[in-house]
Amino acid sequence: MIYETLLTETRGAVALVTLNRPKALNALNSVLMAELTDVLADLARDEAIGAVVLTGSDKAFAAGADIKEMQGIDFIDAYLQDFISGWEGVASFRKPLIAAVSGFALGGGCELAMMCDFIIASETAKFGQPEITLGVIPGMGGSQRLTRAVGKAKAMDMVLTGRMMDAAEAERAGLVSRIVAPEQLVEEAMAAATRIASFPRAAVLMAKEAVNRSFEATLGEGLRFERRLFHSLFATTDQKEGMAAFADKRPPQFSNR
Ligand code: HXC
Repeated sequence: MIYETLLTETRGAVALVTLNRPKALNALNSVLMAELTDVLADLARDEAIGAVVLTGSDKAFAAGADIKEMQGIDFIDAYLQDFISGWEGVASFRKPLIAAVSGFALGGGCELAMMCDFIIASETAKFGQPEITLGVIPGMGGSQRLTRAVGKAKAMDMVLTGRMMDAAEAERAGLVSRIVAPEQLVEEAMAAATRIASFPRAAVLMAKEAVNRSFEATLGEGLRFERRLFHSLFATTDQKEGMAAFADKRPPQFSNR
């Protein structure tokens, strides 16, 4: 499939999706988000794919929603068309999705990275929610996911001042899981995705579901949800294989059953 704003490739069980609007620092316009939604729907259906890496360029993961496209929208259009509501679909992708971030991840770009399961950052990464400087506020989860990731103090600082956070601050704050040299970014993310894709698919999807549930549920509900998923994995062939292989001191042969 040829896309106007994305590049895609697969390596084994991992797909790499690269945002590709270099002249606009990968600003998220409606074409890009529609194409990203389509490609994720295809990858969700593709049984050969176990994990996905989403990246941008060295200079920008994405510098935000496309300001030139948004500029002319008025309230009634935004409200009646529920502007950007479809973009939230990235967060419901069921397979592991890793954001590999180099350069700017601002506004909607930061929010897109936060919709992924975790963020691996290059040393050059810069995160921010500068919407306030344009007279708006985050619209794709910035006030919610950033607050859960870094806590109220830092989220308020970012959202109210519009300042950027560098990779080191983002790692200290818990927004990113690792920092790597820019030239190693995609390889590191692909290696993590390849490792994830080698594990039993049902266990991987349930692990993602269980962690995500912690953001929605009380501790008691979350623990009960986790326990049910844990119990259910004993119905899988791969649980038998994984534990037998450990006991036999041999590598497991998982079948995704
Ligand atoms: C449209 C953008 C863009 C954006 C950059 N460009 N960001 N176009 N929307 N968000 C375009 C510029 O207009 C310019 O095009 C080209 O990309 C290169 O950008 P420069 O500004 O020349 O680059 P530089 O001087 O290196 O500055 C980089 C930057 C700056 C600091 C990232 O571009 C910037 O501040 N961008 C806006 C960041 C932002 O406010 N993001 C939040 C958007 S609101 P031309 O044609 O002039 O060369 C948002 C709301 C989300 O995301 C809500 C829900 C989705």
